[in-house]
Parts: sequence; structure tokens; C-alpha cells
Amino acid sequence: MSDEAAFKVGLEDVIAGVSSITSVNGLEGRLVYRGYDIHDLALNSTFEEVIYLLWHEDLPTHAELRDLSAELDANRQIPEGLIKFLRQFPVDAPPMDSLRSAISLLSFFDPDTGDNSLEANRRKAMRLTAQFGTIVAALARLGQGKEIIAPVSGKTTAWNFLYMLNGVEPNHTMEHALDVAMVLHADHEFNPSTFAARVSVATLTDMYAAVTTAIGTLAGPLHGGANVEVMRMLEQVGDPHEAEEFVADALKNGRKLMGIGHRVYKTLDPRAMSLRYMSRQLAETSGNRKWYDISEALEGAAERALAAKGKTTLKANVDFFSASVYHVLGIPTEFFTPVFAVARIPGLTAHILEQLGHNKLIRPRAVYTGETGRKVTPLSHRG
Ligand code: COA
Repeated sequence: MSDEAAFKVGLEDVIAGVSSITSVNGLEGRLVYRGYDIHDLALNSTFEEVIYLLWHEDLPTHAELRDLSAELDANRQIPEGLIKFLRQFPVDAPPMDSLRSAISLLSFFDPDTGDNSLEANRRKAMRLTAQFGTIVAALARLGQGKEIIAPVSGKTTAWNFLYMLNGVEPNHTMEHALDVAMVLHADHEFNPSTFAARVSVATLTDMYAAVTTAIGTLAGPLHGGANVEVMRMLEQVGDPHEAEEFVADALKNGRKLMGIGHRVYKTLDPRAMSLRYMSRQLAETSGNRKWYDISEALEGAAERALAAKGKTTLKANVDFFSASVYHVLGIPTEFFTPVFAVARIPGLTAHILEQLGHNKLIRPRAVYTGETGRKVTPLSHRG
């Protein structure tokens, strides 16, 4: 087979490694963490249980969960030195740029930075997972000119995040909605940012460098950044009755519908199914149906219009209904992608630990399509 024939644009369907963390079945629309279906986990476990599952290959016992929660509590506070840096960030900086910079700076305050032993990396994974939400909430509040709020012990990651962000204790419905959303976002096999982190750490660089690489990758609108674009799209549509026209106009002008389509899923993303249900529940309990109703109308209009063009495999992905969920939870739109990152950090660190467990440098090849056989004309003769 020629190099060109073996090559897959965008590495589509290419198997790039071995993993026992998460499996994705794109044809059936199934997502499984360590053998547990995502719907089962969303209904019967919590984000903290899923953190344990991703790191330790099994769900925790009562005692293991108590210990993990205590460790998260003990590590949730962020260093004063980091807060001083955060206060100097431009208030209008894109939040994912601020998060990327904050995590890079956080490495200066971690005594284990530079130590790539399993024990040190497990401690770093714990600190990062505990501190991500605190950092994102702090960035959001500083961006609004408000004071930072410290985390509270004995509460979940979801509760703490909403409290540190909004300054009021979340009710059970809100805490549960974010908790489920975080369970659904916690890992997703070799998605671009996780793969970027694995490539990074395979060089034996530090976990902080790999996580910083991943945040930069997650930010793009074709990946984690899509949830922000979905909210902007819902705002533009403004009314469920405008959905058909919006979709027709977008497709006529070659614009992609954000939150629709997926590289792996050729049917509905299973996370979108759960998030659609949550979005409707939140709409009903909050009395604010507007964003759910627009989302539902847009989803239907997109499916019909795309199917009419023969594109029957383009369905809603994880970002489509997470936008209306995050909005109703009081999360500012530009912080939707950082919230995705808060949920993804356990999966990301699980992949980093797994990569280092059986490491081999990741270094693919390219099909060369450039010039050949050229000779250098000295600069003085090049005009
Ligand atoms: N809206 C309209 N058309 C879309 C589309 C969308 N959201 N997603 C894909 N398509 C179309 C493309 O225009 C292309 O059409 P063509 O063959 O006529 O040129 C075809 O479907 C294949 O799309 P492509 O972008 O090449 O597929 P991919 O596997 O590389 O991309 C995504 C996957 C996710 C990047 C893509 O579906 C997308 O951009 N979606 C919107 C962004 C998004 O929600 N990202 C979050 C993913 S979780």
C-alpha cells in the first residue's frame, strides 16, 4: 500500500493506542467508562465516584469515596501566590487562555512538579482535579469585578463550583444537574485534547505541561469551544419559530451548525440524550423554558435540513444541550468551555497516568508533498 493510501485525513478512524479507560461505539451511540455505561453512571453515581472509577478502574466503596472526598476537600483551596497572578490577568482575556495560563502558573506551586513517578503524578492529578473548579470560578468572578469565594469543606465538586461562581448556595436540583453534566463530560477516549495530552506526556514532560497542552486544544470551536458557539447560536435564533429559517440560512451560506455532528458518533451522542433530558427538567423546574424550547426546535430543524441533503448521521453532540443547561445554572457563556475542562480533568489525568504506565514516544510520519531537489541561491542573488 502506498503512503498516500495508508494515510487518513484527520486520523479519522485510525487506532492510535491502547486504553482501558473509556470505550466509544460511534454506530450504536454508546459511551462506557471502565465497563460502565454512561447512562447507568449518570443515574446511579456521582462525579466523585466517577473520578475514583477513572483513576482506580473500579467504583469506590463507602470508605474509598470518603477518603477521596476528604482529599479533594483538603486540596480545593488554590495557593495565595496563584491568586496574586490571577488578579493581574486582563479582565477581558478569553477564559480558556486565562485557564491555560493559570494551570501553567499553578505548576510553580506544586512541590511534585518535575517528578514523574506514579506516586507524584497521582498527587498532582488529585490537586489539579480539586483546584480546577476553584480556579475557573475565581477567573469568572475576577472577570466580573467580584471578590473570589473560598471553597467549603464537606460539599461536592458541583456544589462548590456553583457556590464559588454565583456566591449563593445552589439548591439540590442545580447541584445535581451540574454533577450529572460533569459525569457525562468526564472522559471521552482519544478526543483531540486528551490525545494532545498523551502526545505531550509521552515525551516524559510534566503532567502540568500535558494538561496545559490539553487546555489549549480543548479551547477550539470544533472541540470544547463549541458549547460557547451553541449558546451564541441559540441567542441569535431567539425564538423556536425562527429555528427553520436560521438552519436554512446557515446551510445555504456554508456555515456549520454548532453542537451538531461528531467525528465518531454517527448517531445521537449518548451524552446529548441525557443532557437534553436535563435541559428539559431544568427548564420546567426553573420556569425558564426559552433556551430548552429553542434548542429542541433547532435540533429538529437541523436534523430535517441535513437529512434532506443526505446527511443523516449528523446529530446533536455533547455541546448542543450542555449550553442551555449551563445557561440556566447561571454560568456565563464564555465560561462554558472552562466548565467542560473542570469536568474533563479526571479523565485527562487518568489518560496521562495510563500513558506513562506503558509509555512509548508518539511520533507519527507525514506524507511529504513539498518541493524536492532544490538548490540554494545565495541571498545576494535572490533579489
Ligand atoms: N453543520 C453542518 N454541516 C456539518 C456539520 C455541522 N455541524 N458537521 C459536519 N458537517 C458536514 C460538513 O460540512 C461536511 O460536509 P461535506 O462533506 O459536504 O463537505 C461533512 O458534514 C463532514 O464534516 P467534517 O467537518 O469534515 O467532519 P469531521 O468528522 O471532520 O468533523 C466535527 C466533526 C465535530 C468537527 C463537525 O461535525 C463540526 O464541525 N461540528 C460542529 C462543531 C462542534 O459541535 N464540535 C463539537 C464536537 S463534540
